[in-house]
Amino acid sequence: MILGFPDSRLQAMAVAEALDARYDEVGMHRFPDGESKVTLPEVSDEHVVVFRSLPNPNDKLVELLLVTRALRNQRVKRVSLVAPYLCYMRQDSAFRPGEIISQKIIGGFLAELFEDVVTVDPHLHRISRLEEAVPARNSIVVPAAPLFARYLSDRSDKPLLVGPDAESEQWVSAVAKECGLPFAIAVKQRFGDRAVSVETPDFQVRGRSVVLIDDVASTGTTLVEAVAKLRAQGVEKVGVLVTHPLFVDDAVDKLLQSGVSEIGSSDSILHATNVVFLAPLLAETLRNALDYGRNSS
Ligand code: R5P
Repeated sequence: MILGFPDSRLQAMAVAEALDARYDEVGMHRFPDGESKVTLPEVSDEHVVVFRSLPNPNDKLVELLLVTRALRNQRVKRVSLVAPYLCYMRQDSAFRPGEIISQKIIGGFLAELFEDVVTVDPHLHRISRLEEAVPARNSIVVPAAPLFARYLSDRSDKPLLVGPDAESEQWVSAVAKECGLPFAIAVKQRFGDRAVSVETPDFQVRGRSVVLIDDVASTGTTLVEAVAKLRAQGVEKVGVLVTHPLFVDDAVDKLLQSGVSEIGSSDSILHATNVVFLAPLLAETLRNALDYGRNSS
């Protein structure tokens, strides 16, 4: 059984369909004081896959706690989480005294709730393996690169793929390798939530197309700065492709005003810019890596 939430319904149903599995959904009610009332459907399976992407995560984490505890009370033996966007992965270090390393704490919390945690391209920067942040029995990363490469490979203009910062190299290089396109990595400095500088000093972009690739777009500041630099260097067309389209507030408007020719994203988070759909990859992972559908009753 795939157990979904209304906010991830479309993606969860697509995965259930690809697996030929039953989809059911928790009922959600928000009390006037902000607390969540969560209602479980009837569950008779021994293995339940909870599907929920985790943008705006604070309430969602409490709701996952309620759901997993209730499932255990119903004698469900194995509970897996599929969270295409895994929250709280970016604060992986204390940059100033006293800053709490939320990656480890939230990762530990999820590992206590679930036997398995499956996600897509989590923001791992100073560590390389998801299990270092989320020490579940199985911590599984599904890379979006093959789908991004397939999406880009039909283009006749053979764009240069650009990563806006050092962290992005892992994803950009994987996409470039899969589809045989060249890539380059810019240098970013962050000064605050909405203040960054991006340098693209020796990039040969005059008159050519560029696709900026990043894992997360939040305020859009990183991409807007990168677009500005590339346009100043004479790029002809610049598009963006991101795995996790958080796009908070007016991020998309700012990007459009910066002169991007196209904005694309994966459906790790449901968004109007989705052009790459993860369900087949997630279903394959559940089937092969978690043996889903074979050991379930
Ligand atoms: C950071 O390293 C990430 O890969 C993204 O570049 C960052 O989260 C984007 O944030 P924003 O859109 O707010 O610049």
